[in-house]
Amino acid sequence: MRIEGSVAIVTGGASGLGGATASLLASRGAKTAIFDLNEEAGRAHAARIGGVFFKVDVADDDNVGQAIAVAESTLGTARLLLNCAGVAPAIKTVGKDVKPHALDAFRKAVEINLIGTFNLISKFAARLAQAEPIGEERGVIINTASVAASR
Ligand SMILES: NC(=O)c1ccc[n+]([C@@H]2O[C@H](COP(=O)([O-])OP(=O)(O)OC[C@H]3O[C@@H](n4cnc5c(N)ncnc54)[C@H](O)[C@@H]3O)[C@@H](O)[C@H]2O)c1
Repeated sequence: MRIEGSVAIVTGGASGLGGATASLLASRGAKTAIFDLNEEAGRAHAARIGGVFFKVDVADDDNVGQAIAVAESTLGTARLLLNCAGVAPAIKTVGKDVKPHALDAFRKAVEINLIGTFNLISKFAARLAQAEPIGEERGVIINTASVAASR
């Protein structure tokens, strides 16, 4: 997939894996949209790399649908989706204190890392399926967030 000139959406693009991914894509000429909950860090990083920030909760149904539509009306049809938004509680199923993993923390990781990733995949793919192919492909989706963050 050609990166230069393509529109890329990077969730969790304000920091960490997503931040580095957004920097790399922008440096290779992608028009980069950062989707993140952290407005301060997201705006600052977007300004650094010449991208555009959108405040998005990846686990929110309406928020994601609207954000993709606004990003595409601003930048053009998005061809690349990099799902990096996630939380990494790194809590053991049973810790040294022999207490069980707090269920709320696991539920939150599933909600953001798994459901949030699927939320982006399905909405992005539904739009991409209607876009003209470039050569033999329409676009690319890469996912990194993992529920394995809870051990
Ligand atoms: N760092 C690694 O080496 C590594 C390796 C493999 C997988 N992962 C997984 O990737 C994910 C991100 O890791 P990281 O190290 O980049 O973490 P990070 O905390 O540096 O970055 C995560 C970003 O996601 C954003 N975010 C969190 N919840 C969100 C939500 N609901 N909506 C939108 N944005 C949200 C945060 O604001 C933050 O900017 C985690 O799930 C982690 O388990 C990390």
